[in-house]
Amino acid sequence: MAKITKLDDIVSLCKRRGFIFQSSEIYGGLASCYDYGPLGVELKNNVRKAWWKAVVQMRDDVVGLDCSILMHPLVWKASGHADQFADLIAECKKCNTRTRVDHLREKVAEQAPLENHPEDELVAAGDSLLTEQAEEHTEHISIDAALAKAQDLSNKVCPNCGTVGRFTEPMPFKLMFETQMGANVDDSMTLFLRPETAQGIFANFRNVLDTTRVKIPFGIAQIGKSFRNEVTTKAFIFRTREFEQAELEFFCEPGTDDHWYEHWKEARFNWYTDLGLKKENLRFRVHDADELAHYAKACVDVEYRFPFGSGDWQELEGVANRTDFDLRQHQRGMRTLNKWFENDRDLTKIELSGEAEDYQSGPLSYFDDEQKRRYIPYVIEPSAGIDRSALAFLVDAYDEEEVRGEKRNLLRFHPALAPIKVAVFPLVKKDGMPEIAQNIYNDLKKYFNCFYDQKGAVGRRYRRQDEAGTPFCLTVDGQTKQDNTVTVRERDSMEQVRVSTDQLLSHLREKLEV
Ligand code: GAP
Repeated sequence: MAKITKLDDIVSLCKRRGFIFQSSEIYGGLASCYDYGPLGVELKNNVRKAWWKAVVQMRDDVVGLDCSILMHPLVWKASGHADQFADLIAECKKCNTRTRVDHLREKVAEQAPLENHPEDELVAAGDSLLTEQAEEHTEHISIDAALAKAQDLSNKVCPNCGTVGRFTEPMPFKLMFETQMGANVDDSMTLFLRPETAQGIFANFRNVLDTTRVKIPFGIAQIGKSFRNEVTTKAFIFRTREFEQAELEFFCEPGTDDHWYEHWKEARFNWYTDLGLKKENLRFRVHDADELAHYAKACVDVEYRFPFGSGDWQELEGVANRTDFDLRQHQRGMRTLNKWFENDRDLTKIELSGEAEDYQSGPLSYFDDEQKRRYIPYVIEPSAGIDRSALAFLVDAYDEEEVRGEKRNLLRFHPALAPIKVAVFPLVKKDGMPEIAQNIYNDLKKYFNCFYDQKGAVGRRYRRQDEAGTPFCLTVDGQTKQDNTVTVRERDSMEQVRVSTDQLLSHLREKLEV
């Protein structure tokens, strides 16, 4: 039997309570794709809103953007994705399963006791969710350099069939999904589903400069779907092929980049703890020099202690100093446009043009009014995953406790993230209580996401809301008719206070901080 772990509990709660479902479940499911149910969509919306509030709304130096998913193919040539966005994989000669080389695990000594190798215990138990290491893809690998690096796979285990050391030579596997645009043969072309939202921001840098009054330092933020044909997925919504990113490209003067890098590192770490993630489950992991993408000056991951994988700590978000790489690359891309038409719009036939000598005053440069000079700004990029953050918030909020001999499951969400803020109940379905409760519900739902429930014992209704993470439940009872008060029960402490109905809105607003 599979070992019961916290992630299993989360997966089962998500399904049972309508947070997250497998995509196309009625057809047997589509691997690595998920749908957010009624509670899940509220949670995800709240994660987005909280990110937008912190990164855009509360700042005077960040503006927002919403770009199309399909972009000109030259974008991906210039960014490096068309040629270098790949994982190194090897195929098991026995079962033909392909695995990322950096995900292959060494065979462990046979006599080692299982308890010293919790992951192997899971493998032995056949728990498909938890057998993989959940590391990120190798961003922008130089395929030639990666292939040239000696790989000893002789003691590596195939995660599918368990065979040791029978792999093909490593080969690159491209991660961008391709699609076709256009109905006519002569004007159709191959496009890519964007693998990150960042490039839409770089491609609109000039537009934002020309249409707003932004001055460096400033940022452009975007939340949207990205797609990667990941070789290894699993681990629920941690790594999927379709996911949502929240990215900020913060443009600054070269020389001030270290300051802004530190600024965003701290701001992003605090965002998670302000929304309730326990500090002890969060840490920074600084990338070693040999791990950095070739254009990055520095990169740090905000890691969360997820209840799966090797060593538990997994990337939640990356904060990178991308220097002036991307804007300079897109200036090269713009210079390549003629070749694109000359080569029948076939990306595989063209090389990116070189950089102009005076690239510092190119079309994507910035003119600094005060210093009277042009330069290509440096970029600090905090890049987060909305789905991955939602998973971290779910895992961190999940709790079980015993109350009067019974198990209580609850999600201790921060109020800003809770899908439902307030549930309203009549104690019983008679004596005018449902009518009063309905009136309160109708008033409050103008301000918060509320839920009305009159079915079953009130204790069970409380438990259902605890499991949905609802911070407050209001109950209309016999006393309500006499003194116009209702009970307000708080999820975490289960404490109840009586609040007058005319004070309810201000009471809840204060408690919910909304
Ligand atoms: N523009 C930089 C960039 O895309 P990344 O580290 O590849 O960097 C940023 O991705 C974040 O996007 C990750 O930290 C993670 O939260 C999320 N992410 C990336 N790939 C993902 C996937 N396959 N499934 C879910 N989230 C993913």
